[in-house]
Amino acid sequence: MNRDERVVRSYSAVLLTLGAAAIHFAAASEHFSEYLPYGIFFVLLGFAQVGLAIALVLVPSRRLFGAALVGTLAVIGIWLMSRTTGMPIAPVPWRPEEIAFPDFAATLLEAISCLVFIRRLRHLNARRAGRVRLALVTAPAFLLSPLMAFGGVGGALSPMPAAYDTAPFVAGQTSTSMVDLVAPDGAQPLKEFTLTAALTAVGGQTAWAYNGTVPGPELRVRQGDRVNVTLINHLPVATSIHWHGINVPNAMDGVAGITQDAVAPGGRFVYEFIANEPGTYWYHSHQDTMNQIPRGLFGSLVVEPNASAPTVRDYTLMIHGLPNSDAVAVNGSASLHLDANPGDTVRLRLIDAVSAMDFGPTGTVQMPVLMGAPYTVAALDGHDLNQPQPLGPERIPLGMGQRADLVFTMPSAGAVRLVGIRGIAPFPWSRPTTASVTIGTGPVPAVNFSSLPTFDLTRYGVPAPDPVLDATRFDVTRQIVLSGGVPMFRNGTFDVADTFNGQASPFIQPINVRLGDLVRLHIVNRSRTTHPIHIHGHIFSVLAKNGRPISGSPVHLDAILVGPGDNWDVGFVADNPGIWMLHCHVLIHAAGGMSMTINYHGIYTPFTMGTASGNIPE
Ligand code: C2O
Ligand code: CU
Repeated sequence: MNRDERVVRSYSAVLLTLGAAAIHFAAASEHFSEYLPYGIFFVLLGFAQVGLAIALVLVPSRRLFGAALVGTLAVIGIWLMSRTTGMPIAPVPWRPEEIAFPDFAATLLEAISCLVFIRRLRHLNARRAGRVRLALVTAPAFLLSPLMAFGGVGGALSPMPAAYDTAPFVAGQTSTSMVDLVAPDGAQPLKEFTLTAALTAVGGQTAWAYNGTVPGPELRVRQGDRVNVTLINHLPVATSIHWHGINVPNAMDGVAGITQDAVAPGGRFVYEFIANEPGTYWYHSHQDTMNQIPRGLFGSLVVEPNASAPTVRDYTLMIHGLPNSDAVAVNGSASLHLDANPGDTVRLRLIDAVSAMDFGPTGTVQMPVLMGAPYTVAALDGHDLNQPQPLGPERIPLGMGQRADLVFTMPSAGAVRLVGIRGIAPFPWSRPTTASVTIGTGPVPAVNFSSLPTFDLTRYGVPAPDPVLDATRFDVTRQIVLSGGVPMFRNGTFDVADTFNGQASPFIQPINVRLGDLVRLHIVNRSRTTHPIHIHGHIFSVLAKNGRPISGSPVHLDAILVGPGDNWDVGFVADNPGIWMLHCHVLIHAAGGMSMTINYHGIYTPFTMGTASGNIPE
């Protein structure tokens, strides 16, 4: 080697190249399962990069730097192509792949190594650097490479699952597909509806809406009706409908990747169930729920009781966020007015559908207050309370998804008003928007509602027999510990997850039950936020809060609101076979990991969630 050709080794380039190689090796295993040629390509690429790194140390030369530059640029070029136009040789040719953290990290390291190669080519005759200088020029790569490799390798080793089955078919075991769990035939009166999901302009914003309105149309049926709803999907994405709070047969539950495939654009799906239980319910998308509810895909569903004289005024009030906004509204309006005459009995069916864009420190809890008349909380989550006594103004906590029915008699003079409904403050220093509902006309007494007592469901109304509450033993008991901000690699990236028992969806151990089991859940909140824990297909009986049994009316809920530091005991009868979700209804928490299933023995689902099907239930 003559003096002019002496080339200095570059430890920076070595580190950067090894970092990229580590990520490619880590990504190979997923690629093998997805598409064999990709797996092979990634292993070969990893080996080529390790070989290059060794050569950069042992035999640095001008030629080697030139070849390394060309080769690395080619790898970056292939990456760019795969993310923009797609590749000709691929599981689906010419379909661009999504950018994830691992490929971003590898490409970043490669791009920086290219700069190093160029520098080496331009300063061929650089003198051998002293130790201090060598340490200084190598330091950035020494810090960056391991960091990126750690993130990239961790992400690549925990990708979003390709096809995750929450309850797979077990060979050799008699099992029933949940697809067969539909409503039995019968002569119930048929109520048919069509809900067309499509892009719609709402208040100058593009919303995703059912039949062109946000909220979607109210579906009102009678107890005992056979409800038949055709979902037609005109959205650019797949979607589904879940019937929140109604114990439908499992195949009608609308959960993408668990009880059905999400309905593709242009497709349709017919839901059918019998509305056995009267009450206030709602419906919403359960595909990519975190994004689809905030865009407007929700509406109310009221099952009127069979017996009982109709209430004179029966109003449904959906509290919700406006699409693409931090503003709160009730039935689409910030100040709603409703008619009522003195002496009228009024039933307000409050539904908290406030959306997910809520990062507030206490989760999504609305605290509506009714002022101007004494009222009773007649029902929670659609289920009547036993002998509810009249209340003065109190704040009624409603977590996302929860409902409360308030009943009162219009006073002889003046209006009644629902206040205390708040939106999100986009910044710590800004004020949240508010919404109110005025019933009737005339003045309402002003009350400083932030100092009012909070309604306590554990000692309201009068005790009554309840099979779950009175049970002395349970067949299945399970503790669920809620935690927030748990660092982990998840869905291809580093994440702070929200967990049940330290695990994040979809990898949380399901609760396994048999038909007829009495199940008890002990839910402990170790996080700093409030979580409305929602069950599909079943109704909780509330047993105790912080170890103290409830002392008033039996309380039946489909979501239990668990405040920071609190623990609740709830029970339910496993009387509706299927694969059912149990999740936090704060949508960012569900998507962040707080989602699991209750699996009945002998039932399997043929559906999977993940990248292969595109089903994302949360
Ligand atoms: Cu409102 Cu999983 O549901
Ligand atoms: Cu939560």
